[in-house]
Amino acid sequence: MSDTDKVFAGSIPKIYDEYLVPMIFSVYAEDIARRVAARAPAVLLEIAAGTGAVTRAVAAALPRGIRYVATDLNEPMLAVAAQRQADDDRISWRQADAMALPFGDVEFDVVCCQFGAMFFPDRVKAYGEVKRVLKPEGTFVFNVWDRIEDNVLTHEVTIALERLFPDDPPRFMVRTPHGYYDKSVIRTDLERAGFRDISIETRPEISRAPSPEYVARALCQGTPLRSEIEARDASKLQATTDSVAETIRTRYGSGALEGKIQAVVIEARP
Ligand SMILES: C[S@@+](CC[C@H](N)C(=O)[O-])C[C@H]1O[C@@H](n2cnc3c(N)ncnc32)[C@H](O)[C@@H]1O
Repeated sequence: MSDTDKVFAGSIPKIYDEYLVPMIFSVYAEDIARRVAARAPAVLLEIAAGTGAVTRAVAAALPRGIRYVATDLNEPMLAVAAQRQADDDRISWRQADAMALPFGDVEFDVVCCQFGAMFFPDRVKAYGEVKRVLKPEGTFVFNVWDRIEDNVLTHEVTIALERLFPDDPPRFMVRTPHGYYDKSVIRTDLERAGFRDISIETRPEISRAPSPEYVARALCQGTPLRSEIEARDASKLQATTDSVAETIRTRYGSGALEGKIQAVVIEARP
């Protein structure tokens, strides 16, 4: 993993929340919320909460009286989340690295995490932390993106960038968000961390966007791909984004578009 892969800061959090969350994250947040609500937790923890896509969906599905701690490595992501849910006194926000959770043992009924595990350099350590803070009858609910070929708009953007930077293509999307999807590897990592009751399923969905420009801005400017493009030529971020949009327009037309997305969803108990 490159150093910039885990940095969601600067202009990224706002664009991420406005563009990327509606395009590819909200639909899976609803799925996580259904799974969490089915467990009726009284105390729950979210890790890698980002700008709160899951936090909003889960909070809407749970009653008053619960306690919900939402955490992320990057404060600027949590700041967007906290601002959007400022009046929900069930939720507390806290900066935390998934590999060193600042909580006591057996505190939580449920731990949830959406599209965060791919960013953890040591996943067995992070899963071990989740197991430590979970109650013995608790559940860990999380998801990861499937391979990039099953996430077609992200794949289109990656191919367009390969053509624009043939000598040194930005590979963030392949390397990190779409770099951890092998079910047997995920199962083994969870077992090494002490989980025993593990279910893993593939979940296809459809992502929708109003225009090719929207897709290009979401992915080139609202993710750490932005840092990779800027590292090649900071002055060309907008021109690169426009060029990616043009490639998508050629394939999909200039109006609204949609494409398959696919995730792997996991529920694990100690
Ligand atoms: C793709 S975003 C997902 C955010 C959110 N769960 C969502 O569904 O929109 C990945 C998140 O992982 C966070 N992250 C990266 N490394 C982390 C770590 N070691 N511990 C906790 N969070 C981390 C990033 O800050 C970012 O918010």
